[in-house]
This record gives sequence, C-alpha cells and structure tokens, in this order.
Amino acid sequence: MKTEILPSLLAADFGRLADEILRAESSGAEALHIDVMDAHFVPNLSFGPDVVALAAKVAPGFYRNVHLMMTRPDLYLEAFAKAGAQTIQIHVEADCDIHTELKRIRSMGLRNALALNPETPVSGLYPYLGEVDEVLVMTVHPGYGGQKFIEECMPKVVELRRLRPDLDIMVDGGVNAATAVVAAKAGANQFVAGSYLFRQPDMRSAVDSMRREVSV
Ligand code: DX5
Ligand code: ZN
Repeated sequence: MKTEILPSLLAADFGRLADEILRAESSGAEALHIDVMDAHFVPNLSFGPDVVALAAKVAPGFYRNVHLMMTRPDLYLEAFAKAGAQTIQIHVEADCDIHTELKRIRSMGLRNALALNPETPVSGLYPYLGEVDEVLVMTVHPGYGGQKFIEECMPKVVELRRLRPDLDIMVDGGVNAATAVVAAKAGANQFVAGSYLFRQPDMRSAVDSMRREVSV
C-alpha cells in the first residue's frame, strides 16, 4: 500500500490561507485534507467549496482530499467536484442514500471514500466495502482539531485491513509522530495530521520523518 501523509488545512493560519496551502504542498505531503463542517453533522462550521477552489488555484498539482462532515453531503457533491475536489469522503452516518452517492462521486470521475465515526462499528461499512476506494477511520469525534487520538479505534483498522488487504485506510484526528506509528501497525496507510504538522516550523522534515516511521 502507498503511504500518504495529508496535512489538514483546518489547523492552518486562516489569515494566510494561500501561503499555508503552499507550505503544505512544499512539505512533500501527498495530499491536502480539507475539512468541511456543516454545524449540523458536527457542532462546528468550517470551509465551503470556495476554499477547495482556492487550493486548486494556488496549488493545482497538490491533490485535494475533501472530507465532508455533513448531514446532507448529497446536496453539495457537484459544488465540491466543480471546485476541484479529487477525493470526496462522505460519512456512512450521513442522511442520504450511501450507495447512490458513492456511485455519483465516481461517475464525476473522482475517488470516493466513506468515513466512520468512533462509535460506528466496521459492520456499518459491510454493505459498501465493494464500492469504496478509501475508508476514513475517525480517531477523534469529528468537529474540532487538536483533540486526543482515540486508540480504541485501532481494532477497526485491523478488521478493515483483514477484510480488504488492498484498501486505502486513512486515520484522522490526533495523529502525530507517535500515534501515526500506532495506526500504521494496525494497518492504516494514509495519515491526516492537522495541528501536529501545521505547528512545525519545518513541515517538510516532520512529513519526511512521519513517512519514514510509518513505512517500517
Ligand atoms: C476533525 C477533522 C480533522 C482535524 C484533525 O473533525 O476531521 O481532519 O483537522 O486535526 P488534528 O490533527 O489537529 O487532530
Ligand atoms: Zn478530516
């Protein structure tokens, strides 16, 4: 499996968003993780399609992984696709027909992914495992950056890796140099890190060392 490190834009300095996107790109990270919150699925608001479009404009070659923490992602898929999303992650707990929306994301030429809240068991994904490109195992309760990694979610990563040895499995929330290794041992190959990476004065060396640590 390809190892990927994804800085989460939620932890960027919003006063310098374009520069922060460029800083993440020049860190050598594989993709930018963009967290979209609707103040309904989670108790917070963050970015809309315009921020995805900004990323596409300032760093066109930097892959855009868009995490929709939304009750009705189905109403916004076209807008995010048009803005330049390349992977769209929707939550299995969302209030829409998951089969239909996964199919729709692919039909727009994008990669699809299903995200799973900490309290949702892997069995919630069973009906969809044959039709996802990627699974996002949340390792915090979504809504805010800077929370503590919930290690109790690791058995879900182990189970998913056993069920689908070839699946891209991402972890998101409380990921730092140490917890990334815990997640990698469980079977994750994609690592989102917000506060840990954006607070580094030298993001490139932090990305390099995280990639080295999780690849062994
Ligand atoms: C949490 C978001 C995460 C968040 C992670 O709701 O989905 O992507 O940015 O932030 P850190 O890495 O600070 O826990
Ligand atoms: Zn996220």
